[in-house]
Amino acid sequence: MTLTILGGGGFRVPLVYGALLRDRREGRVTHVTLHDVDPARLAAVARVLAEQAADVPDAPEVRVTTDLDDALRGTDFVFSAIRVGGLEGRAADERVALAEGVLGQETVGAGGIAYGLRTLPVAVDIARRVARLAPDAWVINFTNPAGLVTEAMARHLGDRVIGICDSPVGLGRRLARVLGADPDRARVDYAGLNHLGWVRGLYVDGRDELPRLLADPKLLESFEEGRLFGADWLRSLGAVPNEYLHYYYFNREAVRAYQEAEQTRGAFLRDQQARFYAEMADPGAPALRTWDRTRAEREATYMAENRDVAGAGERAEDDLESGGYEQVALALMRAVARDERTTLILNVRNRTTLAGLDADAVVEVPCVVDANGARPLAAEPLPYHAAGLVTAVKAVEREVIAAAASGSRAAAVKAFALHPLVDSLAVARRLLDGYTAVHPGLAYLRER
Ligand code: G6P
Ligand code: MN
Repeated sequence: MTLTILGGGGFRVPLVYGALLRDRREGRVTHVTLHDVDPARLAAVARVLAEQAADVPDAPEVRVTTDLDDALRGTDFVFSAIRVGGLEGRAADERVALAEGVLGQETVGAGGIAYGLRTLPVAVDIARRVARLAPDAWVINFTNPAGLVTEAMARHLGDRVIGICDSPVGLGRRLARVLGADPDRARVDYAGLNHLGWVRGLYVDGRDELPRLLADPKLLESFEEGRLFGADWLRSLGAVPNEYLHYYYFNREAVRAYQEAEQTRGAFLRDQQARFYAEMADPGAPALRTWDRTRAEREATYMAENRDVAGAGERAEDDLESGGYEQVALALMRAVARDERTTLILNVRNRTTLAGLDADAVVEVPCVVDANGARPLAAEPLPYHAAGLVTAVKAVEREVIAAAASGSRAAAVKAFALHPLVDSLAVARRLLDGYTAVHPGLAYLRER
């Protein structure tokens, strides 16, 4: 079985390879192709993987290439984890938005729109090439903004592209643990869009345990999202929001915290990663150790600005359990390749799952996965407050997709202007001007 990783020089690739190394089961991945546009980054990551594989018998063979078609031809699985414009681009997304007093987060608000606008042309090109060179391949999309990118790719690949995120899985597991349940046995009722969803129930042996959590202030303050949002708000909602909803419910505070911070997240990671790749330019550097130290620093600061706003303090060690993005990817791949039926929260086309969204809208919901791919399970309708946000953000995503397909600036302005976190049409226009001035990847947006 062959796996192609696009963005193969990326920092998280060793996590994926580590998961593959631990997979000893029949039908596992035997060959990995890393593709990246930057050969130096590819070489650095390949060295980390070589050290990871050193003592592992039958470790998956790794090859690197900068030729996209060569990477894709005939492969079984594609992981797409690219970052168009790099972390410099992410930092610019944040900066331009903050100068207008709005949020420029990687996937949320104006930043997510800018990132989507420059990513879609590349992602759609990849989708077209996969359709031609590996028509039977499954594409697992990590590339952010993941919901939007998956939807655009699905126009070319249908249900063969599946979007993933670690945040809903991580949230479900944390909740199960707080409730004293086995995270592997709890069924999580989660629904929304990527980075815009809510846990509405958590079933253990058929019984919903969420009401017990919501009724217990001590339990509510004992995990990340409880501290971020506060017990009162979770009780008011009757649900537990994905941590990214902090950017909506505390938007003003999040913007202020970013403005006052020494560095935004993107700028911090840009500098941190630059140091990692620079250290790796020394052929004598211990690759795995250098990578691991960098990773630990990164995790310790994850979403720190939100915790500052909430006064939630540091993220507790035992709260760290993310779904593990590599675990989600591997679980998905295994279910498809080995026809091992399982349920995972994934980004797939809606069909008739969430009322109010059309069939092609990519949503993030629990899905049954087997050799036929991922099918969303039936879901209760969202309450109005959630349906309102989800519909508004989906409308924005559609404008981003339309702008990328047509090159229309009017559609791009409409995307910014319709976003619930952009509060003025004048700001939307200036955002587009600001972004096109700093991102060469937006030059395709013409006056139309
Ligand atoms: C989570 C999200 C990803 C996002 C990442 C950002 O894992 O699910 O979609 O890319 O956080 O983390 P970073 O360390 O890059 O800020
Ligand atoms: Mn995510």
